[in-house]
Amino acid sequence: MFTVDQLRQMFLEFFQEKGHKILPSASLIPKGDPTLLLTGAGMVPFKPYFLGKKVPEHRMVTTCQRCLRTADLDQVGVTARHGTFFEMLGNFSFGAYFKKEAIAWAWEFVTERLEIPREKLWITIYLDDDEAFEIWNREIGVPEDRIVRLGKEDNFWEIGVGPCGPCSEIHIDRGPGHGCGREDCSVACDCDRFLEFWNLVFIQFFQDEEGNYHPLAQKGIDTGMGLERIAAIMQGKESIFEIDNMREIASFVEGLASKENPVSVRVITDHMRAATFLASDGVIPSNEGRGYVMRRLIRRSIRHGKLLGIEGLFLGKLAEKIIHVMATGYSELLTRQDKIVSVLVQEEERFAATLATGLERLEELMAACQNKEISGEDAFKLYDTYGFPLELTSEIAKERGYTVDEAGFAQAMEEQRQRARSARTKTGYLDNEAGIYAELVNQNGITSKFTGYENAKGKGRVLAIIKDGEAVEEAGPGELELILDETPFYAESGGQVADQGTIGNGQIRFQVKAVRSPVENLIVHRGVLEEGIVTVGDELVAEIDTARRSANCRNHTATHLLHAALRKVLGEHVEQAGSLVAPDYLRFDFKHFKAMTQEEIEQVERKVNDLISENHPVQAEEMSHDEALDSGAVALFTEKYGDVVRVVSIPGVSAELCGGTHAEHTGQLGFFKITSESSIAAGVRRIEAVTGKAATLKVQEEARLLREMAQKLNASPQDALEKLAQVLEREQELARKLETLEARLMAQKAKQLAAEAEDIQGVKVVAAEVDSDAAAMKLLADGLREELGSGIALLGSRKGGKAIFLALATADLVERVHAGKLIKQVAAVAGGGGGGRPDLAQAGGKNPEKVPEALEKGREEIEKLLRG
Ligand code: SER
Repeated sequence: MFTVDQLRQMFLEFFQEKGHKILPSASLIPKGDPTLLLTGAGMVPFKPYFLGKKVPEHRMVTTCQRCLRTADLDQVGVTARHGTFFEMLGNFSFGAYFKKEAIAWAWEFVTERLEIPREKLWITIYLDDDEAFEIWNREIGVPEDRIVRLGKEDNFWEIGVGPCGPCSEIHIDRGPGHGCGREDCSVACDCDRFLEFWNLVFIQFFQDEEGNYHPLAQKGIDTGMGLERIAAIMQGKESIFEIDNMREIASFVEGLASKENPVSVRVITDHMRAATFLASDGVIPSNEGRGYVMRRLIRRSIRHGKLLGIEGLFLGKLAEKIIHVMATGYSELLTRQDKIVSVLVQEEERFAATLATGLERLEELMAACQNKEISGEDAFKLYDTYGFPLELTSEIAKERGYTVDEAGFAQAMEEQRQRARSARTKTGYLDNEAGIYAELVNQNGITSKFTGYENAKGKGRVLAIIKDGEAVEEAGPGELELILDETPFYAESGGQVADQGTIGNGQIRFQVKAVRSPVENLIVHRGVLEEGIVTVGDELVAEIDTARRSANCRNHTATHLLHAALRKVLGEHVEQAGSLVAPDYLRFDFKHFKAMTQEEIEQVERKVNDLISENHPVQAEEMSHDEALDSGAVALFTEKYGDVVRVVSIPGVSAELCGGTHAEHTGQLGFFKITSESSIAAGVRRIEAVTGKAATLKVQEEARLLREMAQKLNASPQDALEKLAQVLEREQELARKLETLEARLMAQKAKQLAAEAEDIQGVKVVAAEVDSDAAAMKLLADGLREELGSGIALLGSRKGGKAIFLALATADLVERVHAGKLIKQVAAVAGGGGGGRPDLAQAGGKNPEKVPEALEKGREEIEKLLRG
């Protein structure tokens, strides 16, 4: 049997032998081609060469191109042959050769390499293409009645604006058993009997935007053979979903499922292959263009996952499986694996959250619906609010006998676009939010002063109150924003999170949740007024949560120490790329081109902890920007600093421009521990760390873990590692022993079964139920083959709650009893399918209680065959 990977290889190598250059598959995103959304054929990357607009490096090339076609999206899964993603094998000539060679080579590959019998092949050509007819008939020797002339619909290939021409297709006749059975069934029929598998396009014209054809100066060849389709033919499979690589993915999906539904398995197999490749090519799910195609594919997969009873997130592991299966042809999948998985999982998480609520809403809508039609407006709301693509709503509705007003949906969508457009022009894109605050500063001259470097508590007068986005004079309990003339509250900035705390007096109590500075010189406290009525002009006391602030201070100082330590250990190229200072941990992103080694991480930890125990003072000073740079302060990012800047320095250690709050002495940090080191972008690393009590807890937790592991191993923590190595070695040894024992056991069992073999027409026949899993059964079969010398065996088992069967025939008997055909009949009794080689076949079934019946039926069948 040819696997998909082998067929791909054979094809490319065949054309390489004929002088073609093998090129890698291009991206699914067509480069520099605004007329196409996605790469849907092998010739797409070569359009400029066919048109003579660009000169190719090679005039004869061959590729296996990843393709995506979404026209038949709704048919995927319903039929056995529709898919969105597929691989297309092709050979191309840009003015090098034409019909004669293209036809001859295709014929050679099909009949001599793939060895498809000539009498099964049919050819179609374009109506008046006598040249093609002559070549097929005279030069190749295909009989006249096997060459069928068809019209433009079938035998003229075009893809919108671009190169095009008449084509000739090679079809295989799979026999009357596969088709519609009509008397006039022919190669022109749409049924499954005659399957087109290779399209040879004779590129001769250029089609313009108006649909006019212009002859091209240079003629070309573009051929395309669907890899999945030819694999199905070569592997004798009815469906592209049964070929080796697709089956592997489909089986993985089945393994996740708790319900049976072949349509859903096929939808997920196809769609997620497509989505995995889209992610690999850099497409991100969105509401437009390719992103929308991707979103639909992912969301349909998730919904079909629900139909299969799959619990929880599954796209990540499925993508890993797909990457693994497809990696032979596309090794870039492996290097992009992390990115692919994270893009898919993010979309899955996003959708999972909205799907549940959306489904509920759709149920309500259907229940409330009078005429079994969901209005366009409702469908749009589902789309807008719950992320339900229209197609998904329609699909669910259709399953339940409802329809959706799709025209109404389109209208609602357009109306929203209009609204968004006018909203943008009115307020200026994204300026909306700053609007009210800018007004307060510019028109009312309001500013607030930050007093929090020195104080944790202080009086402030209410200058403005904002409720629901508007300035008000007074407000009662509820969510509000307050602006004071003076405040100790630190507004989120420079990576440091905001303070929390309270603002109030005897009667008023306002809980501060977030503090921002949306425009310069304005500090906005957002929170909840729990008690009282607040009025502009009120004198209140603002007080921050000092425990939280101290933690922020410690962690902020820690980032400066970490920065200094990294420059010492890794080198001066280390530059801060971002940071987060929170009370419970800190994050520091920096430029460095490779992962840190464990040794480097430990060195940095030691360096920071040394700086902590040396208890350096931390000082802040305001000075002019130039003075700061002269003093050697590290300027972060490329931010524009005001004339006067603040420099935070730890003399002898570091000096940075920084507006944050800090510990007074490094000793206050207590202890510093890195918890992770990772990559966030090319050349940018991220360290996460903890200080103070959190760091102590972290170390204690790790020590506890080690102690508990050691205890389980019955060793001291010092000896645990060695003990573990021993345990693992012992485990391997046991596994080996177990294998030997099992083999011996099976050999004995084989002997016993062979001794009890029945004699049918002079042939030894074993038909027995055994208590073994599939692997043991295989061993048993090996034993039986030996013991019987010549004979037939049929085994069944119910191990693991499933029916498993194995059939074998020794070489001298395969003509009389074909194990593959036998097993197919046997497995069918237990609700299964399968097949296999004439001498050995395995199959499963979902009804274990039918095993005895199936074996009985198998025995009868063997008897019939032997007597027959
Ligand atoms: N472009 C043609 C097709 O897609 C042949 O490659 O069928």
